[in-house]
Amino acid sequence: MSQAAPRHFLDLWRLEPHDLKAIMADARARKAARVGWPKGKPDPDRPAEGRTLAMIFQKNSTRTRFSFDAAMRQLGGDVIISTASDMQLDRGETIEDTARVLSRMVDAVMIRANSHDDLERFAAVSTVPLVNGLSNRSHPCQILADILAYEERCGSIEGKTLAWVGDGNNVCSTFIHAAPVFGFSLRIASPAKYAPDGTDLARAAELQARIHVTEDPIEGVAGADCVIADTWVSMGDTDAEDRLATLAPYQVNAALMARAKPDAVFMHDLPAHRGEEVTGEVLDGPRSLAWDEAENRIHAQKSVLAWCLGAI
Ligand code: CP
Ligand code: NVA
Repeated sequence: MSQAAPRHFLDLWRLEPHDLKAIMADARARKAARVGWPKGKPDPDRPAEGRTLAMIFQKNSTRTRFSFDAAMRQLGGDVIISTASDMQLDRGETIEDTARVLSRMVDAVMIRANSHDDLERFAAVSTVPLVNGLSNRSHPCQILADILAYEERCGSIEGKTLAWVGDGNNVCSTFIHAAPVFGFSLRIASPAKYAPDGTDLARAAELQARIHVTEDPIEGVAGADCVIADTWVSMGDTDAEDRLATLAPYQVNAALMARAKPDAVFMHDLPAHRGEEVTGEVLDGPRSLAWDEAENRIHAQKSVLAWCLGAI
């Protein structure tokens, strides 16, 4: 008997826009329905009842680890968590064999991967859904949480202008993936050395996305509705000294925020490095959505998981 292909959640650009919209609508509804509830209390419909999510971490994590665990509990399901260094993966077992074995034991898998290629290889043989919990190339769960936070504060993101300032990294790539689907304009201000991924930009251009790349941070944020920063040194980067020096002119501070719209908000996926990519004044100020973005990791991922498990 042939089995339906598992619903993997690897990158926003690979999902149908209507599925992404349905995931976002489900996240908003689930969040609204549990205002004032204890964080560990399951949603009444328990869409993951009897289901187990395995999580594998090849890199450090605070938000992704705790939010997926909390999300699965709120959906009425269970989790098993491991670091890759505790697994036979670290002693040379292939990612494909790991996928074959976990497919027999759990109902879905989340991996935080050093290499995006590992996600693709796992997904190619896994018979259960795989969720990208961040790779060197993208961080799709984060951007759904960010859009949820933006829209809660400012209304629809469609037609708005978001300005990314700093390293054109994995998180920047996922904003590029999201721009054509959610209909926002994206400006990216990065030094040439740390420019955003050309393949991501070309794909977005084919989809008529409104994306402008510049090396000038002031041009990047001019009149923007939202300014976004992320660490200058991502996990796995080995050139920290050069990055800190090259990216120094790209700090988001009060002077740069003053070039955006007067009511512009600030977003950061965290962890933050106050005094590097952002000042404490901006991160901890009233226009910062960073803490809402972090909380929304739970709400967005519940709906990603519900979609993966066929409940949406
Ligand atoms: N933003 C984010 O993914 O945080 P963690 O690295 O703590 O999971
Ligand atoms: N760009 C960062 C995001 C961390 C959540 C990294 O990959 O380390």
